[in-house]
Parts: sequence; structure tokens; C-alpha cells
Amino acid sequence: MGSLRIAVGSDHGGFEQKEQIAKRLTAEGYEVTDFGCPSTESVDYPDYAAPVAQAIARGDADFGILVCGTGIGMMLAANKVKGIRAANVTSVEFAHLAREHNNANVVTLSGRFVDPELNWQIVQEFLKTEFAGGRHERRVAKIMALEG
Ligand code: RB5
Repeated sequence: MGSLRIAVGSDHGGFEQKEQIAKRLTAEGYEVTDFGCPSTESVDYPDYAAPVAQAIARGDADFGILVCGTGIGMMLAANKVKGIRAANVTSVEFAHLAREHNNANVVTLSGRFVDPELNWQIVQEFLKTEFAGGRHERRVAKIMALEG
């Protein structure tokens, strides 16, 4: 799985954890593209959700990882981009289910309320879990049909 292309991004609230996650993914052999932000200086999270989501929508990345204070703003912004299924995840179990049932292609994380080790476990679970397909395929297709 080390050859997967991962797009990462954060705002100031997620900067430290985004940096750590990007480093760890690179060390594991993933191809990581960091879309910022570049520091803990205050920025607006949609400005960083957008390029990550668009990279996936274009086919330039396989999965996205977005970190803000809660992960919620990043999830809301990323889901506005056609083709994106972003899930805000705070447990390993939900990381598994977001991939297995929902075929999520972006995981959004809380840099302020979830500790770095748990977020790292979430990222690993998210990236290693396959979509189950079957009845879930039909449901995900119905989600995507809502895009119009
Ligand atoms: C920024 O202060 C904060 O609102 C942001 O990081 C995020 O939590 C939004 O959902």
C-alpha cells in the first residue's frame, strides 16, 4: 500500500499533526503531496480543503487527509467538491467503516481534540481498509447521484 498517493492539508489548528502525519506517511513509503498550510499562522480551512479535494477529484491523488481544529470544517468544505466523500473520524472503528461501507476518499481529523497517536492509528486504518462493495456500492452510488 506504500505506493498510494496521499494529498494532505490543514489549517493552523491542524498544522502540527498534519506535519507529523505527512512525515510518517513518507517514511512508510507513501507518495505524499502537502498542500499546506505552512505554519501555525491563522488561515481559513476551505483554502486548504479545496486543493486536496480537487487533487483527488482530478485523479492526481488516491486519498486525502485534512486536519483542522475539529475536522468538521474540513469535512464540510471537502464534500462540496464533486467526487469527494470526506468523513470526519475520531475513532479507529469509524475509520474502518468510513472506508468499508462509505468508500470515503478523504479522512478529516481533529488536531485539537484527538491526540496524535490516535490520529495516526486512524490514518493507518483508513488507508489499509478496502471498500466492501456489494450492498454498499448501491448506497454510495445513491450518495453520488445527489451531486446532480
Ligand atoms: C479554526 O479556529 C477552527 O474553526 C478550525 O480549525 C476548525 O476547527 C473548523 O472546523
